[in-house]
Amino acid sequence: MCGITGYLGHREAYPIVMNGLQRLEYRGYDSAGIVLSDGENVKLFKTKGKVSSLRKIAEKNDVHGNLGLGHTRWATHGIPNDENSHPHFSNSGNIAIVHNGIIENYDTIKKELIARGYTFKSDTDTEVLVNLIEEVKIKNNCKLGKAVQMALSTAVGAYAIAVFDVNEPTEIIVARLGSPIAIGIGENNEEFFVASDASPFIEYTKDAIYLDDEELAIIKLGKEIRIRKIKDDSFVEPHIQELKLNLEQIEKGGFKHFMLKEIHEQPHAIQDTYRGRLLASKGIIKMGSVDNNIGKFLNANRIIIVACGTSWHAGLVAEYLFEDLARIPVEVEYASEFRYRNPIINKNDVVIAISQSGETADTLAAIKLAKSQGAFVFGVCNVVGSSIARETDTGAYTHAGPEIGVASTKAFTTQITVLALMALKLGNLKGEISNSRFNTFLQEMTLIPSKVEELLKINSEIEKIAAIYKDATNCLYLGRGYNFPVALEGALKLKEISYIHAEGYPAAEMKHGPIALIDEHMPVVVIATKKGHYDKVVSNIQEIKSRNGKLIAIVTKGDTIVKEIADHVIEIPETVEPFTPLLSTIPLQLLSYHIAVMRGCNVDQPRNLAKSVTVE
Ligand code: F6R
Repeated sequence: MCGITGYLGHREAYPIVMNGLQRLEYRGYDSAGIVLSDGENVKLFKTKGKVSSLRKIAEKNDVHGNLGLGHTRWATHGIPNDENSHPHFSNSGNIAIVHNGIIENYDTIKKELIARGYTFKSDTDTEVLVNLIEEVKIKNNCKLGKAVQMALSTAVGAYAIAVFDVNEPTEIIVARLGSPIAIGIGENNEEFFVASDASPFIEYTKDAIYLDDEELAIIKLGKEIRIRKIKDDSFVEPHIQELKLNLEQIEKGGFKHFMLKEIHEQPHAIQDTYRGRLLASKGIIKMGSVDNNIGKFLNANRIIIVACGTSWHAGLVAEYLFEDLARIPVEVEYASEFRYRNPIINKNDVVIAISQSGETADTLAAIKLAKSQGAFVFGVCNVVGSSIARETDTGAYTHAGPEIGVASTKAFTTQITVLALMALKLGNLKGEISNSRFNTFLQEMTLIPSKVEELLKINSEIEKIAAIYKDATNCLYLGRGYNFPVALEGALKLKEISYIHAEGYPAAEMKHGPIALIDEHMPVVVIATKKGHYDKVVSNIQEIKSRNGKLIAIVTKGDTIVKEIADHVIEIPETVEPFTPLLSTIPLQLLSYHIAVMRGCNVDQPRNLAKSVTVE
């Protein structure tokens, strides 16, 4: 949930760490801090608020130094204030730490340390950890790496940490359990970079090591990186990967916000998702991880999907896809509920975990539970090498490219694309979809990117509708069938970035309660595309109109009936019913984006949120 970054080498650390923090700010933005060492002096700057506030404070001071650690925080223990901001120091002032994660037994450790005379300035679990490291180091008269290793053996929880000793500013120790950390390696080991993801250092090196859980790395100038297992001290051969990320992907590229850029990237992102998998001219879908486990899928009693938030909504779309196209029963579970309710999991169940970040703690825990009960677990992730990608038995990447805006957009449509390919493939193999229907689907999928492109052109029309409803206090989203999860997703997008209360419902459920909310002040967004129980949705629309609700309807191009009734109509291109969510979701993303901008909200970093939720 927090972002950590660091530099050790021959350059000035400040600009590298500070720019790195800016790139990692999507992970948390309650407070920010940086510590620098020039070999003799240590400089610490930290503040409540954003990286930009930190920059203003730091730049009035001496920021020289070749070692730096930075942190951008999403508060867990202790309110966002200066004191609780990272980096934290041990009581002696000798050891500095930045931490992403939670030390669950911090209270017990803190009491023991207080009994030994330690004092604490902050309410954080991190300050407890850094003092534990100091205590272990003094008691055992050992090196920092060993002290960190021993301290972490007693810590329970999740962490990615970077630590250094101010008396030895040529070394940084990093370790991980449950929270990601990447190490960038400069030429001849003359400089090193540390970060929660590789974005802070891509312009400096393409060589990176991603630590695995329970690994600790000793990074020393001029030396090869040494990696050890925290538990048994065994040596791990460093696995250096070549980064595929480039700078363009993590910059706004002329758009005002990352969210808008990512909405506009969807035609390409969807294409990247099916590229190499959908071979329309040959009439096949090739997915190695599905092909290699085809028996498991074809013999599955049911598919259980676990995910959170927007990914859970993609899971709901997948329920329609797998049941409709492949006739495999599906249950879609909130990962956070699944793991705590003693679920029944059978050997013949296939579990699909969906996650953009691949780091969501609840989803990760659900995967571990499913695996412990013998299920085969398939991951649908965006971030390559993420914890979920590694924890699952196998899986398929969405290849959406980095998603930086906190509100998920292209993650959703690319997840649906992967899941649609899987459902189509299984449906065809099971004989549920004839070859000719299968080929129609494949051809249609190749048209989706241009249809999304076409839809994006009505951006300014949607902006006009946004201007009318920007001051609403409540909003309802309705859809049926494949469009019901889209209604949920539309409502989530609006509430998370504009702070307008919004709810999604299956349109037919209106009459069982929510219709009581309808009056002339209530905007109702209805997805009323052709095919998806259109006539029934039209009746639902009439019911709203007769109660003076304000109707914004998403309809299929050429619609005439809904046009007569609705206050505003947004047309989307026609497609086969199972692919409708790939199109109907786009105007809803744009609507919430424009409303949020007009309300002056921070679209890319909505309050209280963070991009990857690595706490339960
Ligand atoms: C909403 C949003 C969140 C995430 C959820 C799961 O726009 O971004 O609801 O979808 O936190 O995250 P991932 O997909 O990374 O597991």
